[in-house]
Amino acid sequence: MAVLITGIGELTTNDEELGTITDAAIVFDGPTIAWAGPAAAAPDADERVDVEGRAALPGWVDSHTHLVFAGDRTAEFEARMAGQAYSAGGIAVTVEATRAATDAELTANLRRHVAEAARQGTTCLETKTGYGLTVADEARSARIAAAVADEVTFLGAHLVPPGAEPESYVDLVCGEMLDTVAGSVRWADVFCETGAFDEAQSERVLRAAARRGLGLRVHGNQLGPGPGVRLAVRLGAASVDHCSHLSDWDIEALASSNTVATLLPACDLSTRQPLAPARRLLDAGATVALATNANPGSSYTTSMNFCVATAVLQMGMSVEEAVRAATLGGARALRRTDVGVLRPGARADLHVLDAPSRTHLAYRPGVPLTWQVWRKGSRVA
Ligand code: NIG
Repeated sequence: MAVLITGIGELTTNDEELGTITDAAIVFDGPTIAWAGPAAAAPDADERVDVEGRAALPGWVDSHTHLVFAGDRTAEFEARMAGQAYSAGGIAVTVEATRAATDAELTANLRRHVAEAARQGTTCLETKTGYGLTVADEARSARIAAAVADEVTFLGAHLVPPGAEPESYVDLVCGEMLDTVAGSVRWADVFCETGAFDEAQSERVLRAAARRGLGLRVHGNQLGPGPGVRLAVRLGAASVDHCSHLSDWDIEALASSNTVATLLPACDLSTRQPLAPARRLLDAGATVALATNANPGSSYTTSMNFCVATAVLQMGMSVEEAVRAATLGGARALRRTDVGVLRPGARADLHVLDAPSRTHLAYRPGVPLTWQVWRKGSRVA
């Protein structure tokens, strides 16, 4: 069935030819976009929805979340706001709660957060394992994630679990753990940071994953300068995420690579890290994505609207750049061409704002502007 959405005051397509269209319309044919252009030229359809001058854009592509978890870390957040530093060690608290949860509890928690994200305009979402850290617990996290999320990343190398010997744990990740999860995931990631995995250990994990056909991602340069960006670029990772502490060399390396710099402003704020240098990255020519990093420790939000507003208000990005980074940038970080863009053949994922332009995302921060959300041609919010 074809659905015509018309009366769009401002349509951001991210398509090079279509650009941003005023007085626009878009036609969905089932889960796919059939047509987009000026409303006056729109073809007929079975159903017509008039959004009365509101702005519309591609659904958000949240390319970095950690939503297979149980438990709560409010106390850690309170301690942080009172001055304590964020450290990778807090992950162990969530690992314990996640291991103790049933499959049904983990699935329900994941679905609740994915639905929360969808109500705020997210139509494509990546999520990771990484709170299991045994073969069996990582395998079940991957299975649960694969049933719910668009993209799944294996993050067995999130933390050396308490009591384990680091090199033996890396051996386990590179061998039995990867063998067990490889069928349920598309990506592998590693937390390359002081207190987690060093460069050599991270490289071992990533090379083992690549040998099994997985795409690569890296958590890098989050808590201080480090080798994460260098490693990601050297191994051709699709994305290096966080990037809060970048040298000029890191920025140049990203700009001359295909590795996307995925910035996580909600995490930077919640962990009191410097906001990632978005302006320097964009000026150098790097591809930038924005994502929530939704997780119970360092960034407990599913709101891409908040990330976009922060990127504009605090990180020197224009509204156009921030919206692009939260849609097309996320798609590039996930190596997807079917989302993050509105053009014939792309997935029918549309975010309609209760506002006449996308500028209101930053102009009216904190206001729930998401008015309608369409995913694969169906209205989900
Ligand atoms: O991306 N950096 C590592 N992993 C998560 C934090 C997870 C946690 O603290 O539970 C992150 O910030």
